[in-house]
Order: sequence, then C-alpha cells, then structure tokens
Amino acid sequence: MICKLFNCKSSGHGRFISNRVVRLVLALCLGMTVYTLVIGTFKFTTIQTIRERIPFLANKAFTIRPLTSGRNDTLHSTAPQMKEESGNLPNIDTLIQGIAFNQTYKDALAADIERREAQRPSNWRLSDAQYTSDTQFVNYMNCATSVRKKLLLESFFTKKYLPEVPILIWNKHYSQEEYERLAQFRSIFGWKVASASVISSALSLLNTTSNTYMFDHDRSPGQDGCTSCAVIGNGGILNGSKMGKEIDSHDYVFRVNVALTKGHEEDVGTKTSFYCAAFRSLSNSVMSGARYGFHAPPYQKGIRYVFFPKTDWAYMFLSAVFSDKPAPRNPADGRSPPKFQTKLTANDVKLVHPDFERYIRDRWVNSTRRKNVEFYRPSTGAIMLILALHTCDKVDVYGFAGSFTKYSEYYYDTAFRKHVSYLNHDSDIEKELWIQLHQLGIINLYTRE
Ligand SMILES: *[C@@H]1O[C@H](CO)[C@@H](O)[C@H](O)[C@H]1NC(C)=O
Ligand SMILES: *[C@@H]1O[C@H](CO)[C@@H](O)[C@H](O)[C@H]1NC(C)=O
Ligand SMILES: *[C@@H]1O[C@H](CO)[C@@H](O)[C@H](O)[C@H]1NC(C)=O
Ligand SMILES: *[C@@H]1O[C@H](CO)[C@@H](O)[C@H](O)[C@H]1NC(C)=O
Ligand SMILES: *[C@@H]1O[C@H](CO)[C@@H](O)[C@H](O)[C@H]1NC(C)=O
Repeated sequence: MICKLFNCKSSGHGRFISNRVVRLVLALCLGMTVYTLVIGTFKFTTIQTIRERIPFLANKAFTIRPLTSGRNDTLHSTAPQMKEESGNLPNIDTLIQGIAFNQTYKDALAADIERREAQRPSNWRLSDAQYTSDTQFVNYMNCATSVRKKLLLESFFTKKYLPEVPILIWNKHYSQEEYERLAQFRSIFGWKVASASVISSALSLLNTTSNTYMFDHDRSPGQDGCTSCAVIGNGGILNGSKMGKEIDSHDYVFRVNVALTKGHEEDVGTKTSFYCAAFRSLSNSVMSGARYGFHAPPYQKGIRYVFFPKTDWAYMFLSAVFSDKPAPRNPADGRSPPKFQTKLTANDVKLVHPDFERYIRDRWVNSTRRKNVEFYRPSTGAIMLILALHTCDKVDVYGFAGSFTKYSEYYYDTAFRKHVSYLNHDSDIEKELWIQLHQLGIINLYTRE
C-alpha cells in the first residue's frame, strides 16, 4: 500500500538512486513497524544477521549461512576495520533465494547496504582482490526467473558470483578518497592511468539516470519484468549460422569490437542495443575492421556505448565531447580519436566500474596459465558477457566458444584465419567457463556440429 502511494515500483527501472532518501526513510519505517510487530520491541543495536536486520525474515523457514562462508577469499585483509566490515556483510544470496524478488525486501536490503556503506570508517581500504559493495543489483531484481536466481542457487557460483559488486560507475562515485583507492590499480582495473582531475571531470558529466542503469525506461520489456539479451561474440561459428532473426528477437542485443552486421544480417542480425569496447580498442577495431566495411562504432536509434576505459584517453575523450570541445588525440601515441556517427551525449554512455573488471579477473577468469602476466585481463567479450549476466534476466550467447580448428577466427573473415592466443587474455579458460555456464543452464550457448 505504501508502495502504491509512493510508486516504489518505478525504482526497478533506475529511479531508485535518485529517490533513495525517500526510499531509505520508507524502508526504515516499514522495517521498524514490522520489527515491532514481530519482535515486540524496537532495538537500535548493531545488527548482525539478515534475520535481525530485515525482520520480515523472522517468519521465513530457511537457514542463514554464516556471513563469511564462502566469501573468505575476498576478505583476507588483516586490517581490523576489514574484519569488522566482513562480519557485517549480509548474506545476500540467502536473502534473495528466500524472497523471490519482493519489492519490500529489496527496499530493506538496499537501505541496509547504504547504511553499512555510510558507517564505513574513512580510513577503510581494500586490497587488490576486494571490491566495494553497492546496491545497484537491487535494480536488476524484477524478474522471478532471472538468471541471477540460478547463479545464487548453484553452488558452483558461490566463489564466483558476488551480487553486491558495483556494476556501472557515474558521477556519484567520484571522491578524493575513492580516487586514492582506485589509483592503486592499473589498466581497466582502476584509475592508476589518469590524474584525479581527468577522472573527476569525466565522471562529473556522467550524471544522467541512463548512466546509473543499463536499460532505458522507454524500452522496458514485457509485463513479467524480465529482460532477454543476446550477447554476440565475433567467432567464426556464426558464419552461415542463420541466427540473425533469433538474435534480433531479444529485448537487447550486445555486440563488441568489429561488430559488423552489414552483409551478415542473416547470420548475426541487425539490432545493436549495446556496443561494448575497451575504449582504446575501439580505434583498433576501426582500423582492422575498415577492410571489411567497419568504419565507425555502430549507430542506430537508442544504441548505448558501454566502455571499459583502460587509459586516460577515454576519460579525456568523454569529458571533451560531453562539453562540446574537440575530441583529443591519444596523449600516449597521438592516435586520432574515434569518430562516432552522431554526437555522443552522457545519456548514450555507460562506464563499467573498475571494481567490476577486477572482480571478473579474480573470480570468473582467474587464470593459472597467466598468473605471472602482469597485463593479463579478461577479454572485452568476456566482460560484455559477465556484464549481461549481472543485468539481463535471460542470456543467450552467440559467437563464443566455437571450435578454433573448424571455424575461422571471426565470422566476417573473407579467408580462413587461424586463432591466435595472446598473452593478455586466456581464451581457453574463458571458453571453458562459457561451456560450464551453458551446461549448468545459466546461459544458452549457440553451438553447432
Ligand atoms: C572463513 O573464515 C572463518 C574465520 O576466519 C572460518 O571460521 C571459516 O571456516 C572460513 N570459511 C571458509 C569457507 O573458508
Ligand atoms: C513481500 O513481502 C512482504 C513482507 O513479508 C509481504 O507483506 C508482501 O505481501 C510481499 N509482497 C509480494 C508481492 O509478495
Ligand atoms: C549534468 O551536468 C551538466 C554539466 O555540469 C549540467 O549542465 C546538467 O544540468 C547536469 N544534469 C543533471 C541531470 O544533473
Ligand atoms: C587464483 O587461482 C590461484 C591458483 O589457482 C589461487 O592461488 C588464487 O588464490 C586465486 N585467486 C583468487 C582471487 O581466487
Ligand atoms: C563462411 O561460410 C561459408 C559457407 O557457408 C564458407 O564457404 C566460407 O569459407 C566461410 N568463411 C570462412 C572465412 O571460413
């Protein structure tokens, strides 16, 4: 009823963050009322468990695992504050299993995470394998049959899936303290690559609702609140697949790098909702794709660009184009900036949080073969796919994990091109992961004889 009055439901489509003060108050009031009814008295204490913290759960018959169980790998810091923090982490997976994506619980859960973030001591630091926690995932919990429920129920993912990891990054995330924390990490994993002023001026312009949430309000999927996504890799397995129609029938289509559709519509479709790139690789894609007809990042109405910035150039580029200044050349090598087909606005861009990139490297594609390679990172395709797993409710995957001997490297190749393994990625571990995800029923991977 309270939700009806205040239209809480809209939060599911991204307004959550902007309304969070109202919602925090509501959730707390609601929490106190029910707590009082159930327990008979209201206590203002340090709350240790979800059952105590979110009192509706007092009635639920499911067990709550110890808060640290299965999570010790992310919480091995010796700092006393870290121990304290780890003790207070909610067991979100148990919570979500028990509640079937109920709005009331979502509010209470979000309020709790925000409260804990606010209570965090200012000298709090994370080590390399640790990530801040964030309420973003709550905005992606509208579908009862979501792939994320399966991730939480399948024990294989206990050490992989972390719901509360931050997904996107935007203006509210910038602070001097956060700069210092993230400046410890190189490449796509942090902000070591750029000065505080470069990062802050770019992030300050990422201030639209669209920057806080993957999907657009006006493109919300059907009544069940479930979004279906097709994630398209560029593997040669798509050549002759005739999957184009099926791919286009999804609510959203993710593409990456040389995302060529022209001339390949029958096999790969025409729709592009998200074009993903590790910014600098965008100019590589345009250079290497030009001979196949790929001259610029794709454009169609409503397309969104998802970037994983690796160097200062990306941040400099974004702050320049968002404030109507000429796009700069790459300061490192003088390379000219990518030319988009229309003027890019903040609304068109999503930046992936550096913590999310480190989380993928450490938990999803922790490569032993590359453990001494300093510049090892997940491939852009892998980041795109894991991002879809954290935001879409149904994930169908095409152009990944095909045979390297049977199929050419890319679907748009004009002559057979042999697969090449580069040191900065581990295509074998990624391939094994996609097959495992498929076998466990998490994704639906396109395969063929
Ligand atoms: C995590 O650490 C706690 C305390 O250090 C220990 O009791 C528990 O067994 C550990 N859990 C796992 C899964 O290693
Ligand atoms: C959500 O949970 C609350 C608290 O248990 C309950 O009162 C409410 O009916 C639930 N809503 C739905 C839609 O199940
Ligand atoms: C975002 O920032 C720009 C530039 O500072 C400003 O003009 C605009 O009003 C801001 N938009 C919102 C929604 O705050
Ligand atoms: C990655 O794997 C290695 C060995 O397989 C292990 O020692 C290390 O702890 C793992 N790292 C993480 C973050 O899980
Ligand atoms: C793509 O598939 C066609 C048959 O459908 C084949 O003739 C062609 O050689 C393939 N291209 C490459 C680069 O393997």
